[in-house]
Amino acid sequence: MAEIYLDNAATTPPSAPVIDAVHHALATAWGNPSSVHTKGLEAERVVTEARQRLAAALRARPDEIVFTSGGTEANALAVKGAARARAGRYRHIVTGMTEHPSVFNACEALEEEGFSVTYLPVDEAGRVSPEAVLDALRDDTGLVTLMWVNNETGALHPVADIAAAVKRARPDVWLHVDAVQALGKVPVRLDQVPVDLLTVSGHKIHGPKGIGALFVRSGVRVKPLFGAGTQEKGLRSGTENVPGIAGFGAALAETMTRMDQAAARMRALKELLWERISEAAPFALRNGPADPELTAPHILSVSFPGLKGEVLVHALAQRGVYVSTGSACSSRRRTGARVLKAMGLDDRRADGTLRLSLSAATTEEDVTEAAARIAAVAHELREFAVF
Ligand SMILES: Cc1ncc(COP(=O)(O)O)c(C=O)c1O
Repeated sequence: MAEIYLDNAATTPPSAPVIDAVHHALATAWGNPSSVHTKGLEAERVVTEARQRLAAALRARPDEIVFTSGGTEANALAVKGAARARAGRYRHIVTGMTEHPSVFNACEALEEEGFSVTYLPVDEAGRVSPEAVLDALRDDTGLVTLMWVNNETGALHPVADIAAAVKRARPDVWLHVDAVQALGKVPVRLDQVPVDLLTVSGHKIHGPKGIGALFVRSGVRVKPLFGAGTQEKGLRSGTENVPGIAGFGAALAETMTRMDQAAARMRALKELLWERISEAAPFALRNGPADPELTAPHILSVSFPGLKGEVLVHALAQRGVYVSTGSACSSRRRTGARVLKAMGLDDRRADGTLRLSLSAATTEEDVTEAAARIAAVAHELREFAVF
């Protein structure tokens, strides 16, 4: 039975050029980028090249990129680092109810440090409105932190409108955006969107795990989370993950050149996936926005009310289909329901939710075959479910 991987929001398989770049960096650019001799310079060159590539992809400057150990660390550095850097004058943070745990938990930790945080509600499509952000601003608001694309539902937040509205009303407020699920799927252009801090991660775009970056707009100062080293302009101490950075650079080179085409293809396949599931299992419900303007191309959230998401995931894995309940990062702690409940889903619907996520490598055959297996499993499990 052919295996079908539809869990690309959790992680994507590394592409061949990424594997080559990581291997090449490990084998030849193994020096410490801080060393002043040839070996160091070779490693530094690899880091510089990837930094330039990421800056070009984001329409930013290379000196505005800070490499981190991934999206989680970049989010923590942005949220805690910005809040702490401005603590003298600003004590209030605005965020959303459906943020990734790495932002949500950073905000909760800041509350323990004496900051106050407003958690904005979302509409039933899972989106925060610019008006709600503006209404939440206070004189002591120093940071607004919101995600671009929700990792559980694919809901696309109106980040450009929010950024423009916030900067018009309060140019002194910094805006951080978690763009981990947006990079490579929707245009992220920092010359057009006035955000101050932005998080990206390598392994969601076929790069290696354990590598990410924070964009820090020139003039914005954040406090490092640890250490007093000189790497990454003092914002992220520790010898750089050169192979990871090389792999991230290779992933960017591939992903960014074919983004528009790949996004259109993923979107069409996602719609086909939903069409086939809803035909074969009419009791399935789609969560989040269906309007292409309001949703990312790669994530489909589907509920089978009365069934258990975990049971569906395991039954599907036995049939070679790999998907997720809610979000992979939080499903073990069952905090995924926070996001779905914030959108107004009841427990029965939230508990029976699957997240199906595509990549540029997903094929039409994958999608039609996965829909057939998903519907068959849902029918089987419904026979045992208590309604
Ligand atoms: C929206 C979002 N933010 C942050 C992260 C964390 O990124 P990383 O896995 O690189 O730590 C994830 C990972 O699932 C995510 O989906």
